[in-house]
Amino acid sequence: MDLIIKNGVIITAKDTYKADIGIKNGKIAVIGKEIEGSGEEIIDAEGKYVLPGAIDAHTHLEMPFGGTISADSYEAGTRAAACGGTTTVFDFALQQKGHGIIQTARERDELCAPQACVDYAFHVVISDLRPEILDEFQAAVDYGLPSFKVYMVYKKEGLMADDGVLCQVLEKSKETGALISVHAENPDLIDIRTDKYLKEGKTSAWYHYMSRPEFVEAEADKRAIHWAKSLNAPLYIVHLANKEGMEEVKRAKDEGYEIYAETCPQYLYFTSEVYKREDGRNFVCSPPMKGKESLDALWKGIKTGDISTIATDHCPFQSSEKDWGKDDFTKIPNGCMGIENMYPYMLSEANKGRISFNKAVEVCSANPAKIFGCDNQKGSIVIGKDADIVIYDPKKEFTISKNNMHSDVDYTIWEGVKLKGYPVMTLSRGKLVFKDGEFVGKPGWGKFLKRKIKR
Ligand code: URP
Ligand code: ZN
Ligand code: ZN
Repeated sequence: MDLIIKNGVIITAKDTYKADIGIKNGKIAVIGKEIEGSGEEIIDAEGKYVLPGAIDAHTHLEMPFGGTISADSYEAGTRAAACGGTTTVFDFALQQKGHGIIQTARERDELCAPQACVDYAFHVVISDLRPEILDEFQAAVDYGLPSFKVYMVYKKEGLMADDGVLCQVLEKSKETGALISVHAENPDLIDIRTDKYLKEGKTSAWYHYMSRPEFVEAEADKRAIHWAKSLNAPLYIVHLANKEGMEEVKRAKDEGYEIYAETCPQYLYFTSEVYKREDGRNFVCSPPMKGKESLDALWKGIKTGDISTIATDHCPFQSSEKDWGKDDFTKIPNGCMGIENMYPYMLSEANKGRISFNKAVEVCSANPAKIFGCDNQKGSIVIGKDADIVIYDPKKEFTISKNNMHSDVDYTIWEGVKLKGYPVMTLSRGKLVFKDGEFVGKPGWGKFLKRKIKR
């Protein structure tokens, strides 16, 4: 054994029990009562919980977007992930015109590999669908890249997929064992409403929300679900943030369709009221935070299992970049931070009694591993899986501040939020990467994760 974690309470999506864990060559080798050591390193986890590392299935690291590049590099983003108990990130690789799917992932991998502090995978964003791209789906799946995303918005940015593209990729995904994710908002409604507000001189961050209110997102959720049901193809909706969409997901799941919904911590904590704040532009992301009814519906969806995963949509910009939109909300680069906050926030909500710890592990780790095809390695504490492990102190009080975060961004939307309990150690494949508030890993440690989705 290389390392033994002793005396902790192990919590997975299904079980809670006290046992020791023996780790060898980065894998969980033994789980049992009072494992005897022979001189190896020991972590005493008495009074602590021992959890599988979180999987953040939705990040945008150093991504060209909004007239700039998102502010966390692969190094800064994965460093922050490690310090928040996230041991795997799924980043979005944007297809450039004329480029193939595998080529797109390889290009991002060249940037990511020397920087990654935890393991990573890519979802390739299809923005240039051609017959050759549909033909490449099978090769991409065989390569270990079985998840793609299409944007139903961002028309002006050249990223949008229309219904024709959406239907073609859904059909092909069903045939090849891939999974399509969608960012669902109605682009025409957004454009019409945005133009109207600008003409009226209504330019504050509040009008970012007003140009994309609940029904703008709900329409696109319903449309995407309609196509998925009609074509009998699986569908994953990213960053679901509205009640009506939540209800449509529930209906489709109850009817037996393979529909997954992801939401993000920001939609579970903040409401659209943030856009009235002086620093409202810092909260501008798409879809925007919604009203309290939506927030409540999302929490209900977590409890009923209609929300399958929590991910962050981590896409931060520096405050100087957010300031571009001080006098015009359309100039604010869209995106917020959360990569270091997701697991601590969800676990804190569990610690306060809102959900069980098992549920927090299910939506933050077990489900993303299963849905995106890496549950052979990740998502639980089981013999043979990677030793991606978080030691969590349920008694630690923690107040989030820019000063105790580990990303490169100069503020956090989570400033001042108080958490009950906090991770004290993170192991990535058995290697300590975070300890007592400090990052102790190294860039280049993280490995590209090849995946296969089981159907
Ligand atoms: O505002 C956001 N969410 N920015 C990142 C890109 C996306 O839509 O996911
Ligand atoms: Zn999006
Ligand atoms: Zn996103």
